[in-house]
Amino acid sequence: MKKALITGISGQDGSYLSEYLLSLGYEVHGIVRRHSVAENQNHRLDKIGLNERVYTHYGDLLDYPSLVRIVSEVKPDEIYNLGAMSHVRISFDMPSFTIQTNALGVLNMLEVYRTMAPKAKFYQASSSEMFGNSVDEDGIQRLTTPMNPVSPYGCAKVMGYNLVRHYRHAYGLHACNGILFNHESPRRGSNFVTNKVVKGAVAIKKGLQDKLELGNMDSFRDWGHSKDYVRAMHMIINHENPEEFIVATGKTHSVRDLCRIVFAKLDMNYEDYIVQNPIYMRAEELKYLKGDSSKTQEVLGWKAEYTLETMLDEMIERWEKEL
Ligand code: NAP
Ligand code: GDD
Repeated sequence: MKKALITGISGQDGSYLSEYLLSLGYEVHGIVRRHSVAENQNHRLDKIGLNERVYTHYGDLLDYPSLVRIVSEVKPDEIYNLGAMSHVRISFDMPSFTIQTNALGVLNMLEVYRTMAPKAKFYQASSSEMFGNSVDEDGIQRLTTPMNPVSPYGCAKVMGYNLVRHYRHAYGLHACNGILFNHESPRRGSNFVTNKVVKGAVAIKKGLQDKLELGNMDSFRDWGHSKDYVRAMHMIINHENPEEFIVATGKTHSVRDLCRIVFAKLDMNYEDYIVQNPIYMRAEELKYLKGDSSKTQEVLGWKAEYTLETMLDEMIERWEKEL
């Protein structure tokens, strides 16, 4: 039985990846941080009823001794480093914590990997936010597009990305990067724009609120589903050569398009309900994302099963049940 260790197991991707790896017969271990409300500790994991093959360990990417203890106890075959301060706008408010977790945290994991489990494979959760406002002339980001990050989050992710490549080249480790474009799901944090819009629209439809406050409506994102993207993570880490891969749908929509689609699904016109509030704007905005995942499709055989529409339907269903 293969053993996987997931940092960020309590997050959106960590929970779907755990389910996917269990379905493949893995023993799954994850690092969780201590919460003051013990009931919130395994919030997502409890909800999906993970079974006896999931083990959680207290730790933190910034607490090196905890990482040493966990990696030496677990002896993983595959390490998925998904833990991060993952909210781009909040990274402007907490730049130091973001850089520590998303850059130095990667360094800590790589050092523990190199010294304690060098035969394992290592996957790093890299991000399309690393491209910033770089776009090729044809309006696409690909593996050769320069990285010009526009947020503390993006800057830290570029550092993590480069450290992974450096450790691979310097120490001959099987360490790879998945550059994933935005991916969402019913388990998405409700302060990311897709889930915020879906939750707000359902609440308005049910008469629970009158308006929805948003920031910039004119940025474009390439939105896929987390379930499709965690399958890609597993393919990337298990490719014979450790390399970089992009995971994206190749389709892009503005935040305004997203609002129009979601409100229309609930027979409403978004223009009657959306109010713009500058507190949700960013000091510097990433305006446009549309990724080229042709290498991932051709070399690994990866293909998305969800469309934007089917994903939004699933997210609407969640909030219709819950609110
Ligand atoms: P998420 O739901 O915010 O989950 C992040 C996870 O990281 C949580 O489990 C969180 O634990 C954990 N974490 C935060 N700080 C930590 C620390 N100092 N030490 C240990 N764990 C820590 O994010 P996600 O959407 O699943 O994303 C997973 C990864 O992919 C992240 O690295 C993210 O930056 C990257 N990524 C995401 C997307 C996307 O669109 N979703 C796209 C590209 C890349 P708590 O629950 O205790 O906070
Ligand atoms: N969160 C949020 N809240 N975003 C808003 C709002 C709002 O009220 N109003 C407009 N937006 C716009 C943002 O300005 C941004 O242009 C877009 O909606 C998407 O914002 P998020 O959903 O917060 O995602 P993100 O693109 O900044 O970051 C996500 O994707 C990255 C990959 O490109 C995160 O998952 C990152 O962790 C990930 O790396």
